[in-house]
Amino acid sequence: GAPIDVDLSPITEGQIVNVFWRGKLIFVRRLSGKEIADMKAVKLSDLLDPAPFQARVKEGHDQWLVTYGNCTHLGCVPIGHQGDFEGWACPCHGSQFDAVGRVRRGPAPINLPIPPYAFQGDTKVRIG
Ligand code: FES
Repeated sequence: GAPIDVDLSPITEGQIVNVFWRGKLIFVRRLSGKEIADMKAVKLSDLLDPAPFQARVKEGHDQWLVTYGNCTHLGCVPIGHQGDFEGWACPCHGSQFDAVGRVRRGPAPINLPIPPYAFQGDTKVRIG
């Protein structure tokens, strides 16, 4: 599939936007300052699939998270701004993900994967 460009300028702090690339749901989320600080403060030893904050965002673009939008358990779509970790809760079997898409409660075994993407300036990302 061809890459898609997402205009970030209308996305407000805390907002999660759904886009599709190659038929797959992708979440584009603009993190708040509090969410960034909280996610940076999480200890790797508290994570089920340990990944530091910096591995979840692009350098210089801390505010932006881009992940696939299907639960890594059996593929349901987690609901944003629910659960105990400022992220998503899956309605199917209760998995929870934090604000940068790291799994914090199973049965999902791994973090929400990050698709290939790159910034094209500060207000546009190209996915693919
Ligand atoms: Fe999300 Fe099972 S599909 S917890």
